Amino acid sequence: MACIIDGKALAAEIKRNLKKDAEEFETRYGRKITLAVILVGENPASCVYVNNKVKAAEFVGIKSLSFRLPESATERDVEQVVKSLAADKSVDGILVQLPLPKHINEEKILSLVPPEKDVDGFTAENVGNTTLFKEGINSCTPAGIIYMLKSINAPLCGKHAVVIGRSNIVGKPVAMLLLKENCTITVCHSKTENLGEITRQADILIAAVGKPRFVKADMVKDGAIVIDVGINRTESGLCGDVDFDGVKDKASYISPVPGGVGPMTIATLMQNVYKCAVRRENAGL
Ligand code: GUN
Repeated sequence: MACIIDGKALAAEIKRNLKKDAEEFETRYGRKITLAVILVGENPASCVYVNNKVKAAEFVGIKSLSFRLPESATERDVEQVVKSLAADKSVDGILVQLPLPKHINEEKILSLVPPEKDVDGFTAENVGNTTLFKEGINSCTPAGIIYMLKSINAPLCGKHAVVIGRSNIVGKPVAMLLLKENCTITVCHSKTENLGEITRQADILIAAVGKPRFVKADMVKDGAIVIDVGINRTESGLCGDVDFDGVKDKASYISPVPGGVGPMTIATLMQNVYKCAVRRENAGL
């Protein structure tokens, strides 16, 4: 039976430490760190994520401003909110919850977020810095995954990390962060042939497919470290992209769903907000 990587406990520890940092920030700079959260429409999963982000901010002592726009909001409406937050000196971070409704161009909206307020690490500048292995704001879920791997002292240098999924939010950036850790990386996706043959070679397997219990035990090498990024709502409740019950007897470590990557994404988001606030103060912005 694999050891469980307890994302919930790790995230709680990160948030406890950040609470002290945020207090010190307030004493030093005489203001609260401020995060603006924009949610367009009523995607149920997005509503849950946004509520959890606002709750985490409250716990850490970060002020949050919520902007909830209806599904019918136009691209211009969203643009105007982002532009005014971009110009507002009291705002340290801007988070646009994705996905946006289909009639709104995500790329265009994200390009309006100034890189120094881009707490999600989604802008071209921050993605570029991640790819160049430069100091910057890394995407939250990938940063949380690296934190989890380091928390178990997983050997990364020279190990084969296989990522299933090539999204801008998880697959691509986590591959870059693993490469920075000197892993050999393979990125698989929906067009990959002989997927199982590749995943069976993984020392570290990252499942970000978006399909419930997609990764079965026969796709996993004995002793592999398995990180499940999926959050799928099924009739039997929340489940990951990994068939946990089958895979747990094969892996050396496994992250559960819920209680794995999810809470880590929120904790690393809080770290990014803090980082943006400090950097803005240091840059006199
Ligand atoms: N939608 C799914 N994951 C994320 C995330 O990490 N940040 C934002 N803004 N939207 C998301």
